[in-house]
Amino acid sequence: MKRNVTVLLCSLTFSAFAQAPVDVDKEFAFAAQQYERMLKAHPDTTKFPQSTNPDGSIRDMKSDWWCSGFFGGSLWYIYERTKDPAWKDAAHKWSMAVAKEQYNTGTHDLGFMLYCPFGNGYRLTKNEAYKPIMLTGAKSLSTRFDPKVGLIKSWNKFREYTYPVIVDNMMNLEFLFWAARTSGDNQFRDLSITHADNTLKNHFRPDNSSFHVVCYNPDGTVAAKKTAQGAADNSAWARGQAWGLYGYTVMYRETKDKKYLDQARRIADFYLKHPNLPADKIPYWDFNAPNIPNEERDASAGAIAASALLELCTYGGPSAKTYYQSAVQMLQSLASPVYKASLGENNNFILKHSVGNKPGKSEIDTPLIYADYYFLEALLRYDALRQKPEYRS
Ligand code: GLY
Repeated sequence: MKRNVTVLLCSLTFSAFAQAPVDVDKEFAFAAQQYERMLKAHPDTTKFPQSTNPDGSIRDMKSDWWCSGFFGGSLWYIYERTKDPAWKDAAHKWSMAVAKEQYNTGTHDLGFMLYCPFGNGYRLTKNEAYKPIMLTGAKSLSTRFDPKVGLIKSWNKFREYTYPVIVDNMMNLEFLFWAARTSGDNQFRDLSITHADNTLKNHFRPDNSSFHVVCYNPDGTVAAKKTAQGAADNSAWARGQAWGLYGYTVMYRETKDKKYLDQARRIADFYLKHPNLPADKIPYWDFNAPNIPNEERDASAGAIAASALLELCTYGGPSAKTYYQSAVQMLQSLASPVYKASLGENNNFILKHSVGNKPGKSEIDTPLIYADYYFLEALLRYDALRQKPEYRS
């Protein structure tokens, strides 16, 4: 009887599998110090910290680059943790620096660019000025949805294809759900569901890994399944798997449709059970990279996956504990000196060892601003969970 009670308790709580906790206070204290330096090194708000150039210098990008919202978003996370108004001012300044992209109809990345800074800013401050910027941005993004195809077009062209859709695009849907709720215009929600359903139908392989790019014909039939940033058309590009995992977790949050939860779990299982996932749970840049173990890791994929799993685990199910424990292990790895920079190094980014686009010979084994963003997000999610007794170890 006593044994049965113990078994029951183990199945109800995560604490039975105690793990050395990640010190969230320490991580944010470091992030604040590192980003104070980053702010000092960036007096010009037209130059957004992105990565490191091959010569070691800082790689900055303009506001129309898909990553421009991550710096402001990260500053909001630091403000959320510290409550220091100086971070709020900095976050506001770097959010407003992206505002003009609300009119940009040439990219599918407006979710990243606008919702990461302004969505967090609005959540934390209720600054009404952020709302119209996001709603205009959501309208701009929705112009890229062709109902005949049933998906948001990612890029205007990819090789000979004119309607490429990348799995990353799932990350823009959270923004459109917010826009639907805020504006009352259900079109944003409907097109997101159509996009997610067609991605579910066409992007995934029988083993639940995903293609990177699916190219469509004007009638919505599939023309080709390819990769742009992965090792091969039929490989599992690590960040793409993380985007899909995060994207379908959000789809479940927004719709409560179980098919999205099932998909998120299937992606998580593919990712976590993959024989090429290293012991520290930070993946190589592609699960099928040709020279594993002599391939670069992608800390950005690790941070995105950790954040996604820390939400997915809250939806229960037989693997919830595994998802939570795996995410904590990912955070422990990222917070270790293997991945985390020392103060003042790494061009003042927090994390080292990400891969932007290896086939494109760009950002290989470098810091990436979005690795930092999802690391900070995951730390906040982890900390929120640990306030609940069942997650405390
Ligand atoms: N397109 C976004 C990425 O490189 O993950």
